[in-house]
This record gives sequence, C-alpha cells and structure tokens, in this order.
Amino acid sequence: MPGPDATGTVVLQQVRPYGEGDPVDVAVIDGTIAEIGSSLTVPEGAEIIDGAGAVLLPGLVDLHTHLREPGREDTETIRTGSRAAALGGYTAVFAMANTDPVADNSTITDNVWRVGRDVGLVDVHPVGAVTVGLAGEQLAEMGMMASGAAGVRLFSDDGKCVFDPLIMRRALEYATGLGVLIAQHAEEPRLTKGAVAHEGPNAARLGLAGWPRAAEESIVVRDALLARDAGARVHICHASTEGTVELLRWAKDQGIAITAEVTPHHLFLNDERLATYDGVNRVNPPLRETRDNLALRQALADGVIDCVGTDHAPHAAQEKCCEFALAKPGMLGLETALPIIVETMVVPGLLDWRGVARVMSERPAEIVGLTDQGRPIAVGEPANLTIVDPDRSWVVHGPDLASLSDNTPYESMTMPATVVATLLRGVVTARDGRASA
Ligand code: NCD
Repeated sequence: MPGPDATGTVVLQQVRPYGEGDPVDVAVIDGTIAEIGSSLTVPEGAEIIDGAGAVLLPGLVDLHTHLREPGREDTETIRTGSRAAALGGYTAVFAMANTDPVADNSTITDNVWRVGRDVGLVDVHPVGAVTVGLAGEQLAEMGMMASGAAGVRLFSDDGKCVFDPLIMRRALEYATGLGVLIAQHAEEPRLTKGAVAHEGPNAARLGLAGWPRAAEESIVVRDALLARDAGARVHICHASTEGTVELLRWAKDQGIAITAEVTPHHLFLNDERLATYDGVNRVNPPLRETRDNLALRQALADGVIDCVGTDHAPHAAQEKCCEFALAKPGMLGLETALPIIVETMVVPGLLDWRGVARVMSERPAEIVGLTDQGRPIAVGEPANLTIVDPDRSWVVHGPDLASLSDNTPYESMTMPATVVATLLRGVVTARDGRASA
C-alpha cells in the first residue's frame, strides 16, 4: 500500500456520513476508523476537525488525471497535482501515461508511484501505456508494469485512441490474462483530423473544424464488440455524447463488461462557450451540446455511466492563450470536480450524497480493484475520507489553485460546495483550503 502509515488520533466532530441523519463524531486511530458516536471523548493530543454538520464521504478516487511528470514539470508535478487532488477531496488518483517520456515501461511507472508515495498526499497509481510511445503499433510491456513495484492495474493510451482494431483486440486479450483493465480514449482519428470543436452549428458558425459524435461512438461500439468476443473488460474514458450513452446502455444490456466515466466539464459546459474563441475551452473530446449534457447526467444517475473522471489536464499559459485551433486541448479538474457534481447532479436532485459517494469513490475503486479505497464509512475501515461543506461557496481563481497551471474553465465562477478536509489513511492531507505538504 503506498504512502506513509498514519499514527495518532484525529477526531472529526459533528459530521454527517453520506449527508444522512444527525451529526456524529468519528474517531480515527492509526489510520483506521475506530469509533463513530455522539459526543465522543477526545483523547489527549488528538487533532480535532470541527465538521459543523458537514457531509462526510469516502475519499474520492479519480481514474483519469494528468500529472505531467516526467517531462512537463512546468505545468504540473506529482507534488502539485497531489496537492490539487487532496484539496479536491481525492485520496487516490490514476496518473495518465502521456508523459514525456511516455509511461510505457516499468522504470517510469515505478518511479511515478515512488514519487507519489514520497509526497504522501494521495495514492498516485500510474497508468501504463497500452502501446509503445502511444504510437498505436506495438503493445507495451504491460506484464512488466503490472508486476513492478507500482502494480499497474490500468492501461491507456489516453490522448490517443488505440485505433487499430487488431492491436486493441490483442491488448484486451493480454489485459484479461493479466487481470488488468484497458481504458480507451474513444476517437476514430480518421474522423477527427484537424478537428478542434464539436461538429455542429456552433463550430460551423465560428469556422472551427468539427469533431463528429460518430468519431467517439464508432470506437465505443467497436470496443464493446471486441471486449465481448475476448471475454474482456473495457473502460471508456470521458464519454461525451448522447449516442455513447445509448451504446453503453445497449452493451451493458448484452452483458458486455464495459464501464465508463464522464468528466465534470462534459456534464456542465457546452459548445456555446466557444463563441469567445478562448483556448481554455478547447478540450478532447470537445464540449458538446445541451442535449449531450442532459443525457450524460441522466446516465450517471442511472448507472449507465459508472463514475466521474476529472481528466485534469494542466497546460502552460502560452499553450492556452493563443489562437483557438492552436491551443492545447485540456482543462483543470481536480479542485472543482466535487462542486461541479454538486451543481449538476445534487442540486437538480439526480444524485443524493450516497450517489456522489458511489460515482466519485466506490465505483471507480471497484472498477480498478482498489481494496482500500471507496470503502464504507464504518468502524474498522481505512480512514480515507473527505469532509464537504455543501453550503459553503467559493469563487474560482486560477492562480489560487494548487495546480501549477491556471487553465480552469470556471474562472470567476461561484462553486456551491467546499472541501473542508481530506484524510489519507488517517493523515490529514488537506484542511481549510491548504494542502499538508
Ligand atoms: C489530455 C491532455 O492534455 O493530456 N487533453 C484533453 O483534452 N483531454 C489528453 C487527451 O485526452 O486528449
């Protein structure tokens, strides 16, 4: 298990597990939930966190984060990304493989894991590349990465699609043998050449080359069929279209072992934002239309989409403050994910706090087989926890975020909820807007 072992006692006072019932106190001793009750006696020397009636959730788990180390430490590092994660309520993140060099071998994946453990704010699980150099041609040494110190369990060429159906088929077969999971960035590259925006009336009016929904949907259905025939599991990264929802529903109804994530920005934002040509709104897959937002929200509520993945994608100012078509795709997500889920899912009544725990912690942990994350809030369980004040709002200001980059699409927006504190195995990793290391 990565990260330091906790020693000592923390008492969370007046918290409401899953936002239910009267406030209780939760005592955490040596990394484990030791007692839950009303007005617990505080042992001498214990750290006290006054929840003041706030919601207690299992620590959040993100299957899709870009931490940019190695290679682009000017935009994010494992340390700064871990701080952003802890402040966002996360206790485990999966760091994508599109680093420089690519994480396509165990030297890199083991190093990412070790640095994450030394930082100690969040469990950093490296994602291994499916193909060498993300080139889509030759399978990477998945077995070596899986059996290394990092114990890689999730593989993805994210940023690029494993577009060759034969390579994808082999990857699924190998992954099944190794007991690991492939996460696909579903984008048929022949349909998105030069594309920078969702193909639709807005892109046409603005003169931006369009990325059709079919580019995503054709790969989703292809991979569902390949997984079916290989008896494999497959995970779809950042589902973004109404059609993808229908295909996922169909595939799950057939008993195909397919899971999917949706990003907070695809639930909340649409392509009307592109009118300013501000590069901050460029992202892959692109922001789509209101009907896609609504279908994705309903699918997340119904379980057709399993979980939320942030696709936290930091970029330098000079890569964003430029002509729209030249801006790098991607937006920050770790520190704003939970409030955006509150805004899009909790406020409209699509999810209650149990549902938030399911889509942001329990399901993602299950999908990748983490046994110590996404656990029930109960005595004897590991104290991976986050406290959220659902009524304390805050205003996003890029430079104030812990991430090294500022490319948040929510600049100056008011977020409806605040992470009060995060605990990783009983160690307080973030509190009142400050990360612990
Ligand atoms: C990602 C990144 O920046 O690494 N960007 C993004 O827009 N989601 C990679 C990717 O998925 O294209």
